[in-house]
Amino acid sequence: MKIQIRRPKLKDKKELFDFFQLVIKDTFQRENISEFYPGEITVEVQKVFQVVLNDLEGSGREEYVLLAQTGNQIAGTIAFGFLNDIIKNNIKAIKNSFVLIKGVYVLPEIQNQGLGSRLFETLLGHLKQKSVPGFYLDCGYPSAQQFWIKKLGPPFLILKNQWGENQDHYIWEVSLSVVW
Ligand SMILES: CC(C)(COP(=O)(O)OP(=O)(O)OC[C@H]1O[C@@H](n2cnc3c(N)ncnc32)[C@H](O)[C@@H]1OP(=O)(O)O)[C@@H](O)C(=O)NCCC(=O)NCCS
Repeated sequence: MKIQIRRPKLKDKKELFDFFQLVIKDTFQRENISEFYPGEITVEVQKVFQVVLNDLEGSGREEYVLLAQTGNQIAGTIAFGFLNDIIKNNIKAIKNSFVLIKGVYVLPEIQNQGLGSRLFETLLGHLKQKSVPGFYLDCGYPSAQQFWIKKLGPPFLILKNQWGENQDHYIWEVSLSVVW
């Protein structure tokens, strides 16, 4: 499968929105998790789509997205940018020079074929180039938590029962020198 990783353009907006909707809905179903509050999926889609808008408006200065394309279809995304409230409210000695990696999504039918890893490596290369010292990453999806444990080791912080009984939220704080 030939994959091109590139920056988003204005014309990608509609397809990106549909992509997030499809993958996030599928993730909730696949992980067998119910919405924490009504409309959570829609809010999650809007949050990640806002990252795309911020990137396009700010030319990637503060929020920065990469997308993977196969043929003429969007197959995956990854981004970095502002820290979110979960990080700000739970990390005591927060490292303000660290960014948050977010928006990591791969089309359901091609998950587990290496694209998530490739997007992550590509983004790390970009962070290195920009001399970003490190990043935070947070994750509430049990399956993706295992993916990140493989990449980053055990989480820096576990928020126990954040989303209900035995539904924990994981946070990693990672210096770039450790993973690159
Ligand atoms: C999580 C996600 C981004 C990973 O991308 P991917 O392309 O499916 O993952 P890769 O194929 O690159 O997998 C890399 C490694 O992680 C492992 N892995 C992937 N998913 C895993 C899982 N659910 N449990 C355990 N290991 C997993 C793979 O076996 C592989 O290991 P290897 O390198 O030793 O062979 C993707 O599955 C996805 O979009 N999931 C739904 C949305 C989501 O949860 N996003 C993350 C939000 S934090």
